[in-house]
Amino acid sequence: MLHHVPDIAADRVLLVGLGKAAEFSAKAFLDALRAGVTALQKSSCKDAALYLTDLAVKDRDDAWKIRQSVLCAAESVYRCDQLKSKPAEAPVLRKLLLGCADKPSATAQQALDQTQAVANGMALTKTLGNLPGNICTPGYLAAKALALGKAHKSIKTTVLEEKDMQKLGMGSLLSVTRGSEQPAKLITLEYHGAGKKQKPVVLVGKGITFDTGGISLKPGAEMDEMKYDMCGAASVLGTMQAIAEMGLKLNVVGVIPTCENMPSGRATKPGDIVTSMSGQTIEILNTDAEGRLILCDALTYSKKFDPDTVIDIATLTGACVIALGHVASGLFSNDDSLAQELLAAGEQAHDRAWQLPLWDDYQPLLDSNFADMQNIGGRAGGTITAACFLARFTKDYRWAHLDIAGTAWKSGKEKGATGRPVPLLAQYLINRAKN
Ligand code: BES
Ligand code: MN
Ligand code: ZN
Repeated sequence: MLHHVPDIAADRVLLVGLGKAAEFSAKAFLDALRAGVTALQKSSCKDAALYLTDLAVKDRDDAWKIRQSVLCAAESVYRCDQLKSKPAEAPVLRKLLLGCADKPSATAQQALDQTQAVANGMALTKTLGNLPGNICTPGYLAAKALALGKAHKSIKTTVLEEKDMQKLGMGSLLSVTRGSEQPAKLITLEYHGAGKKQKPVVLVGKGITFDTGGISLKPGAEMDEMKYDMCGAASVLGTMQAIAEMGLKLNVVGVIPTCENMPSGRATKPGDIVTSMSGQTIEILNTDAEGRLILCDALTYSKKFDPDTVIDIATLTGACVIALGHVASGLFSNDDSLAQELLAAGEQAHDRAWQLPLWDDYQPLLDSNFADMQNIGGRAGGTITAACFLARFTKDYRWAHLDIAGTAWKSGKEKGATGRPVPLLAQYLINRAKN
């Protein structure tokens, strides 16, 4: 940080090393951006002008640099301190100007406006994820969804209760909530941004507000992190808020099955057989493979919206963390063009996914001696067999599945929700609204 540089209007100038010009890639840009914004936050600057956006980055346009700068700045001012008796120190930085040599294009301006909505959506997703299971219950998520419907004329929220789900035949979803004292909810948010005739994109988010594993109880270490098992649901709420703020011209429905997975004398037991809304029967060999059990009924329910495309988002398998680590979300689809569109949106938003196979060769691993299928496929290929389970309920429409077990939150010293994959989903919807 240089002070009082002669002939420069700014009081202070922060120099950021960029490495070799020839090696200045997207990653190098993001590293420099993060380092710069972090240093600004540590100084007592109230406002700053950022000129990193004026650098040429290989294969990236101005809009990309603007989007990344907004997301980085938003990340640096995010706090989750509502449960501390004294709030954490508020960030001092209030205003960030993005410098560019030429007059910004209309697309660059639009990227700026849209990314602010995406950042707000991510903040909602993070806060819901970070809230503990004793506060963020299924009822709490339903109340938040209703509040979104109140705040935005374009969103209509409805909440189904357990008796409604019973009538619909959702035996699989209801089997997961049996051990819990908290009532399960099925939330739908309908966003109308286009004509009635346009078929909607349906986003289905896993909303397990705490996953103990049920009778197949999880080990104690780090079990607190299973409060994050509703991050799929939170990403649907964050994305719905973002598209409503942007006023995107398309129709989108959010569907959120939400409950707790708890052990009790009433809880579902290994070996129990239930009938899903689709009519297919399921032998529950492991009550900890509960995400797919709530999603399958929500996916069947989604047909009622006559969808163009259905995308589910779920912290579904620990195996996905083993396969892809914390960098990429797992992506599956029964439609290759949809997979390509989602991969491209992830690349654009720097919220990347990686496609895994959904081949029928894996399906026999789910065969059961007593029911139409079992809910686990063994240790090998655990992420794939989970997706193959869902595929049995999504044959009637174009569908993709995002396994965000490794990307939705960070552990350790930096523990906290990331807000992913809101940037990917929002970018995909922005791209769709354009075409
Ligand atoms: N919510 C978990 C998946 C999970 C585990 C996400 C750890 C992130 C970190 C899911 O409900 C689960 O328990 N899955 C089991 C499936 C198994 C029993 C087939 C798993 O991954 O161990
Ligand atoms: Mn589980
Ligand atoms: Zn779970």
